[in-house]
Amino acid sequence: MAEMKQKAVEDLGRAAASVEIRHLTDLLERANIAYHQNDAPEISDEEYDLAKRRLIQIEALFPKLKKTTSPTEKVGAIPREGFSKVSHAVRMLSLGNAFDPEDVTDFDKRIRSFLGKGQKDELIYTAEPKIDGLSLSLRYENSILVQAATRGDGGVGENVTKNALTIKDIPRNLTGAPEILEVRGEVYMSHADFSALNQRQRESNAKPFANPRNAAAGSLRQLDPNITAARPLKFFAYAWGEVSAPLAATQWEAIQRLKELGFQVNPLTKRCKTPADLLAQYAQIETNRADLGYDIDGVVYKVDDLDLQTRLGFRSTTPRWAIAHKFTAETAWTHLEAIEIQVGRTGALSPVARLQPVTVGGVVVSNATLHNEDYIKGFDSKGAQIRDGKDIRVGDLVQVYRAGDVIPKIKDVDLSKRPDNAEPYPFPTTCPKCNSDALREKGDAVHRCTGGMICPAQAIEKLKHFVSRGAFDIDGLGAKQVEAFYQKGWIKTPVDIFLLQENHEPALRALDGWGDKSATNLFQAIENKRSISLSRLIFALGLRHVGAGSAGLLARNYGSWIKFQRAISNAKIGEGPLWNTLISIDGVGEVMATSLVTTFQQTAESTAINHLVSMLNIKEIAAPAVTSPIADKVVVFTGKLEKTTRAEAKARAEALGAKVSGSVSKNTDILIAGPGAGSKAKKAAELGIKTLDEDGWLSLIKNL
Ligand code: IVH
Repeated sequence: MAEMKQKAVEDLGRAAASVEIRHLTDLLERANIAYHQNDAPEISDEEYDLAKRRLIQIEALFPKLKKTTSPTEKVGAIPREGFSKVSHAVRMLSLGNAFDPEDVTDFDKRIRSFLGKGQKDELIYTAEPKIDGLSLSLRYENSILVQAATRGDGGVGENVTKNALTIKDIPRNLTGAPEILEVRGEVYMSHADFSALNQRQRESNAKPFANPRNAAAGSLRQLDPNITAARPLKFFAYAWGEVSAPLAATQWEAIQRLKELGFQVNPLTKRCKTPADLLAQYAQIETNRADLGYDIDGVVYKVDDLDLQTRLGFRSTTPRWAIAHKFTAETAWTHLEAIEIQVGRTGALSPVARLQPVTVGGVVVSNATLHNEDYIKGFDSKGAQIRDGKDIRVGDLVQVYRAGDVIPKIKDVDLSKRPDNAEPYPFPTTCPKCNSDALREKGDAVHRCTGGMICPAQAIEKLKHFVSRGAFDIDGLGAKQVEAFYQKGWIKTPVDIFLLQENHEPALRALDGWGDKSATNLFQAIENKRSISLSRLIFALGLRHVGAGSAGLLARNYGSWIKFQRAISNAKIGEGPLWNTLISIDGVGEVMATSLVTTFQQTAESTAINHLVSMLNIKEIAAPAVTSPIADKVVVFTGKLEKTTRAEAKARAEALGAKVSGSVSKNTDILIAGPGAGSKAKKAAELGIKTLDEDGWLSLIKNL
């Protein structure tokens, strides 16, 4: 009797497992196609991971139900043999954001202060709609369109020339253009064309697109240009990259010139003189927004005078001379079903709200970030109340909003709808992935898992970061693939990537979904990346507080891996010449420096880093192409500058390859001393360091 009962229970379990396996298999297969082949992810990475983990668990419990074709056997989908890559002659950058009028007045103030202009001095801006599409760079040589490329990571994009040639707004030939002209702008789809396209998608049982932006991106990035040709895309020109001769003296005139050359330019562009004018134009464009017939998500302000644009220059990924003023985010109310904890590569525990799916601004939202313990309790990082101090509990009705492409957030909680049994959220004190203690240090809002590399979540996130775009960026080895290889035990640390062929070649070639060709391509792509730039390597290590910009600074300042590694491994926190050199790099603060030195002095970490480096060929920072008398020189500014501001002088020196330091030492090459220079000038004199006044400096860099 007991045996029969046991068998009945097992049968029931097997039947339920079989149904769930089918459901999860369908879900994962659809997600794979959506992600890898259609560029239109349907579920979040977390949902994908959850489903895959569940399927692995069930298959382990019922091995007989596991199919050889199960998605758990596949490592992502076969990498798409897509477009060739294109290096942009001039980087394609993104824009900083403004969200309220104060951000706009700050933008104006920052520019005036950089240029040394008073509040009353005239400064003209342009204001134009920010088109919600995807950016494209069109290269014309001798007036013929020779290449069209997507933005990609800003440095390298995809070659979509054949597809761009099918877009009516994009001229194939120009008359009277400079010999080399790169026109940049936005590819978008109008509302009418979007509805008609989705109608056709539904009629042919294809999945409709979520919004015009996705439809435009999916249509431009089609491997078959005939499909692009059948999708009505449009193009607005608003900027340029490489040009062999200037288009004009101002942004406004340059845009008029592009119009004369046959490009569509946005008719709502206006010249403005003050932040108040900019805000008035913003209001005007927002009023027209619903009637434009295409999506815009804000207004872009640019300094009109192109000489001033050049003087203002760029931060690491955004220009100082432009900003995007975003429209207020759309909101929606929904229920918070659960709070889950994700563990990042530095061990930070990030709470994520799982929401009942709801549409916000045309996109289905099912997750929102909850930041940290205090945020859930109703406090910001300074201890001030947010949401009037209302905490967030599972079961609550919450208001979500999306601002731009960022992860949705929770704006408010409706306490009148709070279920009686809703409890305050108990923030975990152990890591949910490896059970190690999760500690919250004094003064830090974040709980961190103390498991280090024994924590699978940290290990996987570190690997994902290592292969990400700004880091090693290995073709065919994305987040999904490293994760799958990690689960198989093939790649546990970055070193294993470079041992993949040696250790797992036959198994990988035999893996479902791969095959000989894609495996060969992957091994080749890995080989190619053995040669890597110093800044990418430093960024890829995923050190706390070291982003892509700081990695670039460190690489430029130390020049080679050997110098960098020796300096950091031998530095003493808070004292000594190596420490002083490190923190004298403009842009490196004590927090970053401490984190670097601490990491490099941990035996396990530094052994792992050395092992990795032994497999690589690290490209040293090449001498700048222009022979600048200040390239690689350490310069220090002191005293008052009268012809440029300190910010501008520093930006200019860095652009010419110099390293700007805040203090004088025997490593200093040039001191630029204005009136009022004190102890630094004295020290430089003692050390016999070359000292220039501002005019001397300006004549040194003139014509560079
Ligand atoms: S100017 C150096 N103008 O917004 C800056 N960008 O968030 C060049 N965009 O990557 C960009 N409309 O794809 C500019 N009128 C406009 C724009 C615009 C849309 C996009 C562009 C850019 C992104 C930045």
